[in-house]
Amino acid sequence: VRSNGLAGKKVLVTAGGTKEPLDPVRYLGNHSSGKMGFALAQACAEAGAEVVLVHTQVELPLPLGVRSVFVRTAGEMYEEVTGRFPETDIVIKAAAVADYRPLTCSEQKIKKSGSHLTLELVPNPDILAELGRKKQHQFLVGFAAETENAVDNAFSKLQRKNADLLVVNDVTKPGAGFGTETNIVSLIFPDGSREDLPRMSKLDIAREIVRVIVSRQS
Ligand code: C5P
Repeated sequence: VRSNGLAGKKVLVTAGGTKEPLDPVRYLGNHSSGKMGFALAQACAEAGAEVVLVHTQVELPLPLGVRSVFVRTAGEMYEEVTGRFPETDIVIKAAAVADYRPLTCSEQKIKKSGSHLTLELVPNPDILAELGRKKQHQFLVGFAAETENAVDNAFSKLQRKNADLLVVNDVTKPGAGFGTETNIVSLIFPDGSREDLPRMSKLDIAREIVRVIVSRQS
């Protein structure tokens, strides 16, 4: 039996990896497949929420009943997410947002010269941290892909970004992380408590996260 625990709620989910352009044909990117975020959008829609999915280019079908907003860069994602935040109840930030972007995007294709090429990078805005500063009634869910000290890093991240729930996965574990069908995650809460989930499909993890959000948010 499906719960409709998110009926009447407006949920914004972000998914996929941002691509930061270097020139007309190249970008800096990451290995995010978008699977976890798309599964979350599906699980939220199943629970009766009105879902907007802000996503980058990924090879996945749009879940039924979910509104799609396409973005390329962290800057575009920032605009879409912060603009919609006031009328949103729950934000789930599953996207892998680039921490840095090239200072300039060359108008023409960068030519090879045979010698070293140095790229100058500038920091992108941290979207989740910005939402954490602005939040009023909203419930904020962050993700953390870690390669070491996953839980300790995640707890300080939750506090730093003022999130209400942080989902952490150690991307070095087999069956977890980028592009896989399954994931192994721990849920970290502001009171310092934690729930470790077994290896499950990304859709089952998404449904579990929805269950936790329904039980925790007012
Ligand atoms: O700091 P880190 O990238 O590990 O934090 C991960 C969380 O912060 C994710 O939920 C991610 O979507 C979000 N994030 C963001 N804007 C950034 C970097 C990360 O919203 N520039």
